Amino acid sequence: MAVLFEPIELRGLRIPNRVWMSPMCTYSADPGRAGVPTDFHLGHYAARAAGGAGLVMTEATAVRADGRITPWCLGLWSDEQIPAFRRIAEAITAGGAVPAIQLAHAGRKAATERPWKGGGPVTESLAWPAVGPGANAFPGYREPSALSRGEIAELVASFAAGARRALAAGFQVAEIHGAHGYLINSFLSPVSNLRGDEYGGSLENRARLVLEVIDAVRSVWPENLPVFLRISTTDWLEHGWSVDDSIRLAGLAHDHGVDLIDASSGGVEPASVPADRDYQTALAARLRAEAKVAVGAVGRITEPEWAEELLATGQADATFIGRALLRDPSWANHAAVLLGADPRFLEQYDYAL
Ligand SMILES: Cc1cc2nc3c(=O)[nH]c(=O)nc-3n(C[C@H](O)[C@H](O)[C@H](O)COP(=O)(O)O)c2cc1C
Repeated sequence: MAVLFEPIELRGLRIPNRVWMSPMCTYSADPGRAGVPTDFHLGHYAARAAGGAGLVMTEATAVRADGRITPWCLGLWSDEQIPAFRRIAEAITAGGAVPAIQLAHAGRKAATERPWKGGGPVTESLAWPAVGPGANAFPGYREPSALSRGEIAELVASFAAGARRALAAGFQVAEIHGAHGYLINSFLSPVSNLRGDEYGGSLENRARLVLEVIDAVRSVWPENLPVFLRISTTDWLEHGWSVDDSIRLAGLAHDHGVDLIDASSGGVEPASVPADRDYQTALAARLRAEAKVAVGAVGRITEPEWAEELLATGQADATFIGRALLRDPSWANHAAVLLGADPRFLEQYDYAL
């Protein structure tokens, strides 16, 4: 039996296999109904669940309107947004997968264009003021305003409110987005966090925001359901956040109630990233070995045999599949067939077998 298709239990939640859909923005909300998922999102996520993934995670979902990456990003800052998310959680569940949601705030990387329109700051008429640890901008982006202590407290409360709404919508896993240079990551990294107060300076101070967010999410998330944290395990910059820093953070996050670290990398500032296949999964393996926490590996996992090897050799507890799942919604079922495990086709598709 392939480890990739063995179930895993986290807290009281059983996840049927270890092929998990990585959170990926689709930039497909209508700015006129800001943050609200559309029929596109429903079909997109339902297809990946029907395709056999064990867990389907929605794209970065902003806990405040100013925390969207683009005007086309999803958000859960109002109760009115809950019903459209509920349809998605129900469709994922009906497909046999666990519905998960990534809760996010874009920080100083907010208010940008869609990548296929060139990215970069969005046109002035659609933009809003970005916030960050300081007034220092992401290279080429508009200058953010530095968050005051009071605003940080409001922001932390927004994560709790977002998690409460996600739970009301039927999601069973909440992932906190602490990676890719967005707000939480920009506080963690010494490259972007130049604050002189208790939220800047030492690693403990730079980690204060993420630990407060974890506590806030945990305060509303049920004891028997898991919380994940996505981090950038390295900035890929000489004086930036390092894997050793991540190992320390993973331990702290675990103590605060995080059940799995989703081990990504980069994004605080432009950097060159190695071309090796295991550029990022090797960092997940270090985290799992040294921080003794459950870890999800992600990045360039396209071959089922390699996903299986990562798990069978103890480098990760689960795999997050990104672009391969954009290309093939049934990647998980195809992997199951290839590895000799049982695919999970919906009964509506029995005739196809
Ligand atoms: C179109 C696109 C959108 C993405 N959006 C998000 C996102 O919303 N949140 C996030 O944490 N990562 C995001 N990512 C990163 C992916 O989750 C994943 O970590 C990355 O693509 C590497 O995995 P892969 O090689 O399997 O694609 C995005 C990636 C792509 C290609």
